[in-house]
Amino acid sequence: MQCTRKITEDITWVGCNDRRLAMFENIFPIPRGVSYNSYLIMDEKVTLMDTVDASATQQFIENIDYVLGGRAIDYLVVQHMEPDHCANILEMMRRFPEMKIVANAKTEQMIHQFFEVETQERMMTVKEGDTLSTGAHTLHFVMAPMVHWPEVMVSYDEKDKVLFAADAFGTFGALNGNIFNDEIDFERDWLADARRYYTNIVGKYGVQVQALLKKAAGLDIQMICSLHGPVWRSDLDFFIDKYDKWSRYEPEDQAVVIFYGSIYGHTEAAANALAVQLAEQGVKKIAVYDVSTTDVSDMIAEAFRCSHIVLACSTYNGGIYPPMENLLSDMKALSVQKRTVAVMDNGTWAPTAGKQIIKKLEEMKEMTVLEQTLSIKSALKDERADELEAFAKQIVDSLQ
Ligand code: FEO
Repeated sequence: MQCTRKITEDITWVGCNDRRLAMFENIFPIPRGVSYNSYLIMDEKVTLMDTVDASATQQFIENIDYVLGGRAIDYLVVQHMEPDHCANILEMMRRFPEMKIVANAKTEQMIHQFFEVETQERMMTVKEGDTLSTGAHTLHFVMAPMVHWPEVMVSYDEKDKVLFAADAFGTFGALNGNIFNDEIDFERDWLADARRYYTNIVGKYGVQVQALLKKAAGLDIQMICSLHGPVWRSDLDFFIDKYDKWSRYEPEDQAVVIFYGSIYGHTEAAANALAVQLAEQGVKKIAVYDVSTTDVSDMIAEAFRCSHIVLACSTYNGGIYPPMENLLSDMKALSVQKRTVAVMDNGTWAPTAGKQIIKKLEEMKEMTVLEQTLSIKSALKDERADELEAFAKQIVDSLQ
């Protein structure tokens, strides 16, 4: 049974949803699933914008066959070679022997890396600024290297003013029939996953995302069609602003997030005491996460959202408690920067995690580590209430 939706008179979403995959890229939990979006442009020449993951081939073929109604595909535009989108290139080449692959030189090279296939007669190689006319529609190709791989390009349809954005403006989450942003409550139901997707998948490439946003600013875009998640046809500025902020590493909220790593619960108790103290001093919407039980992708998203981060950590094997070390290494890898950080540590005989955490923070860009640290020997005692209050106060002061 076909499962498609028209997005304009000539363009149809022929993508697929995956609610069976537990972890995207075998690393990110996706309890709400994910969509692999693909679009067919029905014009004098028929164009397919990317394919879908191998797991969704059957549905994809049914969708395409339904929309084609017996016609053949003339062009397959390959914007990105990650297998969640490129897995069906060979299948399309077999089914449509006259079809040309429209892609840049890097993409062609990657096609040969992934597949045993001869492309000599099948390629239409494009570069920055090239166009493809399919009849009424003209596609403009814009290179977007490292958003998210080096070969990525996006395509702008002049007629319908659609930006086919590759992974940009994507999000985790399967589409539940409502494929348009104005059919869902994006801010309530999708934003957290969109943030988690962006920060973990392309978070490292803020400079390249900024370059793409600058190029996109010169286009009259009425619709954004990403390879994952909803199609944007209204209030585009809302999502573009988020991308702008994320890619400049500016926090969305003046807010405090506390990440704690605790072995027997004493560091956790100290983190809770700090949260209460912060609340007493007027801080609202404090977020607290256990690094042992929270997926690191969620914590990265929160680190991007909040202006202030507290790291409260047990010392373990003379070092940083491993789940906290994992978070710090991901923060560095994904270029978390421009945050204010307060550090607490714990250790029964040698609390040294704090010093080592500060060293790691120094390896990140523009991290302001607050002067006062709080070091606990086994358990935080009531007699240190004043110290805790002062530790909280420095955070409050820096929030203002
Ligand atoms: Fe959705 Fe980078 O692939």
